[in-house]
Amino acid sequence: MTKETNRLLGHADEADGIEEYDNPLPDWWLGLFWITIIWAVGYTVHYHFIADRSQEGALAAELAAAEERWPEQAQAQLAFSYSEEAATQGEQVYNQNCFPCHGMQMEGGIGPSFVDAEWIHGGQAANIVQIIQNGVLDKGMVAWQGILSPEQITNVASYVIRRHSEATGRPIEEILLPPDEVGAEDAPS
Ligand code: HEC
Repeated sequence: MTKETNRLLGHADEADGIEEYDNPLPDWWLGLFWITIIWAVGYTVHYHFIADRSQEGALAAELAAAEERWPEQAQAQLAFSYSEEAATQGEQVYNQNCFPCHGMQMEGGIGPSFVDAEWIHGGQAANIVQIIQNGVLDKGMVAWQGILSPEQITNVASYVIRRHSEATGRPIEEILLPPDEVGAEDAPS
């Protein structure tokens, strides 16, 4: 293909004597432009319609994955059951999250002690789990259900219950009774 080349545009008078050729782009260069344009169309169609990728889709997928990982969180109250094994594993959760406020020995500090006979929100397992899940936001107790998994909450609640039982001599079986069976107030959150 022959193209007219080196034709001057002739606007030197407007541009301080600088001349400019009116040469076409080289074919290979122009070809690159066409390729990127065609690529962009194909990419757009693929991204939005075929692979169906979007931020909305990514968010929905993330939410679904979270739902799968922490299914109980959709429920108001987690299905808590005490076990010695959970209590043992709960020590680590406690030491990582709770000690700054409740003390290394659960003796209290910013938050109340768990090793005395006093409970602000009721001393049954259901009360304790409920507070750990939902917190007491205006008093500075964090709602842990978005932060810890249900398993971690079960573990740390079991650990608190065991330590409370050891320190006060109150039997674990009694702590596990539902609040209405021991006449305790079902604590408001
Ligand atoms: C930032 C400080 C802070 C952290 C961290 C914290 N708590 Fe608390 N917690 C509090 C405060 C303050 C209260 C008292 C709330 C009130 O007065 O109603 C409380 C109350 C509680 C209660 C109820 C006590 C009662 O007497 O009824 C439980 C159970 C509890 N926390 C467990 C935990 C566990 C388990 C963790 C760790 C996963 C934790 N807390 C971490 C501050 C904290």
